Amino acid sequence: MIQNLVDALNLSPDNVPLRLQVAHLMMNEKMYAEAVEQLSEVLKRSYGHTTAQQQLAECFYYLGKYSAAIITYEQLEFEQLPVQSAAFFIRSLIKEHSIEQAMELYRQLLVHHPQFADEEIDKVLRLGTSTEMDDEFPFDDSDYFLEKPTTKFSDVGGMKNVKNEISLKIIQPLKNPDLYKAFGKKAGGGILLYGPPGCGKTFIAKATAGEIDAKFISIGLHDILDMWIGNSEKNLHQVFEVARANKPCVLFFDEVDALGSSRADLKQSAMRHVINQFLAELDGVDADNEGILILAATNAPWSVDGAFRRPGRFDRIIFVAPPDEEARVDILQQLLKEKPVAEIDVKKIAAQSDGYSGADLTALIDIAVEDKLAHSIETGELQPITTKDLLRALKVHKPTTQEWFSSARNYALYANESGLYDEILKYLKIKR
Ligand SMILES: Nc1ncnc2c1ncn2[C@@H]1O[C@H](COP(=O)(O)OP(=O)(O)OP(=O)(O)O)[C@@H](O)[C@H]1O
Ligand SMILES: [Mg+2]
Repeated sequence: MIQNLVDALNLSPDNVPLRLQVAHLMMNEKMYAEAVEQLSEVLKRSYGHTTAQQQLAECFYYLGKYSAAIITYEQLEFEQLPVQSAAFFIRSLIKEHSIEQAMELYRQLLVHHPQFADEEIDKVLRLGTSTEMDDEFPFDDSDYFLEKPTTKFSDVGGMKNVKNEISLKIIQPLKNPDLYKAFGKKAGGGILLYGPPGCGKTFIAKATAGEIDAKFISIGLHDILDMWIGNSEKNLHQVFEVARANKPCVLFFDEVDALGSSRADLKQSAMRHVINQFLAELDGVDADNEGILILAATNAPWSVDGAFRRPGRFDRIIFVAPPDEEARVDILQQLLKEKPVAEIDVKKIAAQSDGYSGADLTALIDIAVEDKLAHSIETGELQPITTKDLLRALKVHKPTTQEWFSSARNYALYANESGLYDEILKYLKIKR
């Protein structure tokens, strides 16, 4: 039959529909090289014919000419491709090891066809992008991020106002639910902590769990954001479910700015889904969040989607500043508690460490300890840490919070809607 039609075509070579029909039949018969010939003829006569291009690309794919297939597909609007063609496009990219582009297109495809699944593509893209991730669903094993911290508020130096806020806003409602109900105050909502790195956001979140003898789940949002559309939502839901199954529980979300609506590396619409899922989980739409304390942290509050700040969600936003002098004394004492020390003039060190974060102070002590260890090994005698050692460490390790403030300052000055960042200005002693 094909031969008959080809003969007919030789008589009327400009009959495009007939030629397409022939090509189609050839493809059914796996005569891809012949089909390519016919389709090329079609495209000569009808430039940019989409169906012809799609079929041509598919033939190239079957012929193992993947880069030709890619070039052909690239001339077409990806969004307009039928699902099957899109899948061939992605497969061609995989064959050519253009994994990133394949991933990006797959994401786009899933936005419009969430049901689409292709075992082969899934297998390759999954393995190709993440080395640790095996076939297992990343959050299947709930145990590894569930902790039972022993750190308490008393282990956290300084941070008085933060401790107060956490206590009032989320601990007390948990302990006295009836009292809060009597005053018509609904429990719920979380606290968003922000500030320069190393100043104790994660530390205080953990201590909150220890303080009330609750479990602690810490989630870096970057871990949750899967490149698989739909998986991020699943991951998030699962985290909340684990929390609900382990009450009382502090659920701590780190790097919430990862959910900023302006992120370029995930498609806008996809991100919207994740954000909506997060909001629904926070609001406890389908489930009960009682007994779950929700804390979040970020270094970039200005990138956090505004929807998170609405009442009942992260409606308390607290600036976690570098420790002041009094707090530094406190932190240093905490940190030196279990170390071999001589008389140490903690006040003196505190006075000279303006701008040092808690993590910076930890670094100072580490440096001193290392020094002493080296000496102790040399002399065969345990040498305690002295004030002098710490003063020396101050020269070696400089504070790491400045950089953060240099960008935060601009947001506080020029993007300070409803005084959100007044605390930054206060810390920097800038009057508005
Ligand atoms: N107030 C504090 N009291 C005692 N130790 C502290 C305090 N703040 C920070 N530290 C020490 O510094 C380390 C780093 O702090 P943490 O991880 O909580 O900072 P962070 O604010 O979460 O920083 P990042 O923004 O980088 O996540 C803590 O593990 C702790 O050892
Ligand atoms: Mg942290």
